Amino acid sequence: MWDARSMPIGHVTRGTTGTNRLRRVDRWIAALPALRTADDPLVVDLGYGASATTALELRARLARVRPDVRVHGFEIEPERVRVARAQLEREPAAVRERVRFDVGGFEMPLPRGERPAVVRAFNVLRQYDESEVHDAWETMLGRLAPGGVLVEGTCNEVGRVASWFDVEAPGPRTFTISLHLGSLDSPLVVAERLPKTLIHHNVPGEPIHDYLRALDDAWRREAPRGTFGARQRFVAAAERVRDAGWPLVDGPRRWRLGELTVRAEAVLPH
Ligand SMILES: C[S@@+](CC[C@H](N)C(=O)[O-])C[C@H]1O[C@@H](n2cnc3c(N)ncnc32)[C@H](O)[C@@H]1O
Repeated sequence: MWDARSMPIGHVTRGTTGTNRLRRVDRWIAALPALRTADDPLVVDLGYGASATTALELRARLARVRPDVRVHGFEIEPERVRVARAQLEREPAAVRERVRFDVGGFEMPLPRGERPAVVRAFNVLRQYDESEVHDAWETMLGRLAPGGVLVEGTCNEVGRVASWFDVEAPGPRTFTISLHLGSLDSPLVVAERLPKTLIHHNVPGEPIHDYLRALDDAWRREAPRGTFGARQRFVAAAERVRDAGWPLVDGPRRWRLGELTVRAEAVLPH
């Protein structure tokens, strides 16, 4: 059992981060009922990295739908907490009142038994061993408020290629791919940016491999639609994927953004 005197759970990894990098997943989080209807809209940014930037962006984006949102950033590397706190000092009081940075790991040592409605853990587990993911998820899920959501995933340096799981007790609910359509050659580009749970399973015979192939095949077949724009092409490709039997959980409004969500059980490893 974890208690407040214990060492943070996890280990220090590279702190790479960047302005606007997480805009795609932030848009997803802003639409989550778990945030919108939360009694206490507390969001944890787990492993925010070498600066406070993406945590501050998270607060600003979510405040548009929940002005009372609070963001609590945890870093396992103490110097990154010092840097983030110094950055926060330069923010207006209205921001300072709603953002905190502390040392912590997957256990998320929140004060007074607070529980987050949402945890964003982005580009954190990527640097762990696959065998460590299950326990990390369990630990984070155990800290959520009832009905809370863990959003765990990965993206490229500039945030144009991203993918993530929406994890709710007892396990992953959906898997989302989010791609910048204006620069998209093939949806297979996401293969390098899959969550740890999937990245080593993108091989023939595994569901994630079949799913990405189905999407790429549909994208190629819809190439003629490219003359009407990448959005129309991606929407048509998504329709093909759905018609082929993949349990997509959304529709054209999100497909137009280059975003495709499927039920997680359809892509999890055998
Ligand atoms: C690559 S950075 C990601 C920064 C930011 N989330 C982003 O996506 O731009 C990963 C950060 O996670 C931190 N980290 C790794 N394991 C952690 C854990 N168990 N608890 C808290 N932070 C952790 C590392 O110290 C590192 O700064």
